[in-house]
Amino acid sequence: MAHFTKLSSEQLTDCIAHLSTPLQQQLKSIVCRVDFKACFTSEQVQTLLAHYSASDKANKQQLCRDLIPLAQSYSLAPISSFYVGAVAMGESGKIYFGANMEFKGLTLAQTVHAEQSVITNAWRHQETKLVMLAVSAPPCGHCRQFINELNGAGDIDVLITKQPSTRFADILPMAFGPSDLGISARLMVSPDNQLTLKSDSVLAQHALSAATSSYSPFSLSPSGIALQTPNGLYLGRYAENCAYNPSLSPLQGALISLHLSGDSISDISSAVLVEHKESKVSQEKTSKQLLSLISDVTLETLHCSVK
Ligand code: THU
Ligand code: ZN
Repeated sequence: MAHFTKLSSEQLTDCIAHLSTPLQQQLKSIVCRVDFKACFTSEQVQTLLAHYSASDKANKQQLCRDLIPLAQSYSLAPISSFYVGAVAMGESGKIYFGANMEFKGLTLAQTVHAEQSVITNAWRHQETKLVMLAVSAPPCGHCRQFINELNGAGDIDVLITKQPSTRFADILPMAFGPSDLGISARLMVSPDNQLTLKSDSVLAQHALSAATSSYSPFSLSPSGIALQTPNGLYLGRYAENCAYNPSLSPLQGALISLHLSGDSISDISSAVLVEHKESKVSQEKTSKQLLSLISDVTLETLHCSVK
């Protein structure tokens, strides 16, 4: 499924046909802008909320639910053809889109879930806390574990299609979380890993900045990736999980940002990974494998040092 910057106007109309005509027009004027990157500013959210007439919280919930088909239009699902969309509202009042991404030819473990995509998108836009999360399908166990890594996760208002709103803590009872491993850090609250890298390459320094604010409190293995295309530069930060397996690699993070920005994976012209040579977790081999499947570009790996 092509996301809406690549949708025909008929397909875009289909995604918002369930909304009132003035709201449809308002939405089109925002999402058709060339600089729209799957994020609505708080001012844009306010203009959209003006079309609703219930209480403030109910309006926000309904708006998030109403935007799900647009988020689904970003889904890349060549294996399942199951298009999952996620819409999150941050504490800042901004709204973000996310969608699943599947990679045909590799293991299913490389799949990005819509919830991981929307969290990565919000983190990229400096959001530190989510207050609402609307999804087209119930979040799977893996996603519930991933969400549980967030600051204030328990209070997130979860809106599953055709279900009443639920507090996140109620859909993950008796949870295993970072505090079980004695960790107080939380995902989306970017750390400042003190790292340096001897390289004059601008792309490498960007990858270093991604590694510097990556989240790996369990393995202490920070890593970051920078991808270049003719249209832009995209960063990916490692997002670790206390239960290990639901972690998201820096390459997956960078691909999410690239795709949600309306860019094409096939246009990647260079890619740099920065990690520490002595780290217990290395992204190098797995990232090379994923990148070689989706692009002709070879991943350059550079080793940083601790300051
Ligand atoms: N999927 C999600 O994106 N989120 C969930 O929590 C449920 C499953 C995706 C993963 C895969 O691309 C497809 O749906 C089938 O499982
Ligand atoms: Zn999931």
